[in-house]
Amino acid sequence: MLEDTSFAIHPGKEKQSTAVVYRDIGNLLEYKKSNNTYMFICDNGNVAVQFYTDSIARVVMNPHGEVQLDRSHTVKVSPDEVKAMEEFSGDIILLKTSKLQLRIEKSPFRITVTDAEGRMLVAEGNRGMAYRENGEVAVFKKMQENDHFYGFGEKSGFLDKRGEKYEMWNTDVYAPHNPETDPLYESIPYFMTLREGKAHGVFFDNTFRTVFDMKSESDYYSFSAEGGQIDYYVMAGPEPKAVLEQYTDLTGRMPIPPKWALGYHQSRYSYETEAEVRELARNFVNRDIPVDVIHLDIHYMNGYRVFTFDKERFPNPEKLIADLKEMGIRIVPIVDPGVKKDPEYTIYQEGVNQDQFCKYIEGETYFGEVWPGTSAFPDFTDEKVRKWWGEKHAFYTDMGVEGIWNDMNEPAVFNETKTMDVEVMHRNDGNPTTHRELHNVYGLLMGQATYEGMKEQLSGKRPFLLTRAGYAGVQRYASVWTGDNRSFWEHLQMSLPMVMNLGLSGVPFTGPDVGGFAHDTNAELLTRWTQVGAFTPYFRNHSALDTVNQEPWQFGKTYEAIMKKYIQMRYEWMPQLYSLFFQASISGLPVMRPLLMEFPEDEKTYNLNDQFMIGDNVIVAPILAPAVTDRAVYLPKGEWVEFSTGEVYDGEKTHLIHAELENMPIFVKKGTTVMQGEWISNKDKTAKNIQMNIYAGDSGETYRFTYYDDDGETFDYEKGSFLELGIEVVSKADVIEVRALNKKGDFTPAYKEIDVNVIGLEKTQKVIIDGEISRGNDHKISI
Ligand code: GLC
Repeated sequence: MLEDTSFAIHPGKEKQSTAVVYRDIGNLLEYKKSNNTYMFICDNGNVAVQFYTDSIARVVMNPHGEVQLDRSHTVKVSPDEVKAMEEFSGDIILLKTSKLQLRIEKSPFRITVTDAEGRMLVAEGNRGMAYRENGEVAVFKKMQENDHFYGFGEKSGFLDKRGEKYEMWNTDVYAPHNPETDPLYESIPYFMTLREGKAHGVFFDNTFRTVFDMKSESDYYSFSAEGGQIDYYVMAGPEPKAVLEQYTDLTGRMPIPPKWALGYHQSRYSYETEAEVRELARNFVNRDIPVDVIHLDIHYMNGYRVFTFDKERFPNPEKLIADLKEMGIRIVPIVDPGVKKDPEYTIYQEGVNQDQFCKYIEGETYFGEVWPGTSAFPDFTDEKVRKWWGEKHAFYTDMGVEGIWNDMNEPAVFNETKTMDVEVMHRNDGNPTTHRELHNVYGLLMGQATYEGMKEQLSGKRPFLLTRAGYAGVQRYASVWTGDNRSFWEHLQMSLPMVMNLGLSGVPFTGPDVGGFAHDTNAELLTRWTQVGAFTPYFRNHSALDTVNQEPWQFGKTYEAIMKKYIQMRYEWMPQLYSLFFQASISGLPVMRPLLMEFPEDEKTYNLNDQFMIGDNVIVAPILAPAVTDRAVYLPKGEWVEFSTGEVYDGEKTHLIHAELENMPIFVKKGTTVMQGEWISNKDKTAKNIQMNIYAGDSGETYRFTYYDDDGETFDYEKGSFLELGIEVVSKADVIEVRALNKKGDFTPAYKEIDVNVIGLEKTQKVIIDGEISRGNDHKISI
């Protein structure tokens, strides 16, 4: 193709100016208040302002008529009864809560949001809200010199998105996933701005194709959509953590995942037969390499028909699933949305007879090509269809399946546009509208259908769902893997900022295909990637058809031993990780975090791409390039202890750290604790001994951590069956004081006590645990 050669940059192809002319909202004509909604009628549009809490303001603008306030596909909460104080002076209307102020200029109509102290969050200037005759809507905001941008869901490139322009349009991109590949599979039209240590957030709840532009101008950024209303929320922060809590107040949080889903997953496109899967499972057990899940990719099906098994390849799936469960391993099958057009296939028959598929306005079914050939697509925007699809999962859950993998749900279609015809008319629970408007929520709604169906069928057990496509709020139903990456070191590098930004976008349970999906991996890359994977929230090794096999033993004993050590470490760290997943479920805070989240005052963290934190006190600094055994590590304020060597490093400095292939540097902050369990065996993964490792410090600081445990697989925690233990550590020059604070819940774990182990105690320091003097490593906290 000529376009793939230098012809693409032929001088004759120079772009002509495409300056876009927007129509400004104009002046305010009328202002009125109805209940807690503040309404503004302007020359060219109607605006409503609402306060969801004191810290969350919503602005909605409809250029064509009445504002619509209840069309969100993801915000299910209503505004609190927050009454803003109104003040009027000349050309200005002020709406004030205890945390936010909206300063509204009448002519032209402009909104500036500040915090209660007057610190500017988002401000309009020469330009504000605008629209075009073709239906496009846009908002322009002033950009400050020191604004840094994060979030935007699943994007390639670096952590700080200043200077970037992104589009939201769920897209199946097989290749190449490089810094300019955009959009990818997920659309999360949300970002957080960090400026001089303080943060605020903006969520643009518009499901059309949207664009966020922090690139084209030096003093303005903008967000725009191909259609619909301007509908955005400003979250006051002021800490990055507060922004995330506020954002997840709106879009929801992830329920605590089943513990097994936090373990190691092994996948391949495809393990093609029952014999192959059994052999794979035996390999893990015999080699004592932990594995919780084996995924079945599309070859398990009969001609890629969802809700079927190929009886030749998988003669007895029930038995396979039961036998593997005995070994401590679960099966997670893939389910794509495309239903094969085949009049002899019951799912297709039902879909047609019960009117479950997407159609054009004229009534014809939409068909697209995917793995099974010509296929129809369920209209997940209709509650009836979601229910039907959910119920179909009894096919799997009756066999003992507790987890499903949703793929191709952008939806991906093998055609020029890569997706469904945007003219398809969705039912949208009674408000029919086109695929152009609902494309970005198709995957989210498939996830909802699947999760809710499985939850119903699993009678009290927690379902696990993995998805490729989603929209803001996807965390309520699914964990997300980052699609078809490649076995390149660059993709290992890029996965860190991508997963961190997903975490900052409210999705805490994510990870890339470890080892890389396409292209052949190699021993060193797989080993380094497995080390990182042991600490990324979602941990799955997956590879494509026709690539070399990349199970942990494929490259010989030396590499196998290192990977085994790290996969086992994942399980040793499970008490810590599980406690962090619990925290994510109640506050929305991600498990894997960029350093800026904990150290927002420290500018060195603002675009730190090759290190990440687990919780608030552990820094992981992996090796991300071949043949490298030394790397620079930036450690922020505090003193830091390297996990395997015990060496102590000063904060606010960059250190050169040595790490042979068998090591990945991990740093724990002095004065804090890490909960550790043990690896037992694949059959029995429940730790019987739990340790609280306290890293002695002397700064005088107080550290608090909440340890959490429960049965790991049911919803009984909702009825009080959990163990929540607040822990406080105060480190001073002469004493380390440890206190178990409030204990909540009535869950009885397999262990009766927690061993307390103080690391790095000075001679001058004594240890007091729950009021009793201890020698530091002989104490136990009883449960
Ligand atoms: C898509 C998925 C990949 C899967 C393949 C076959 O490319 O992203 O993970 O293995 O389809 O189902």
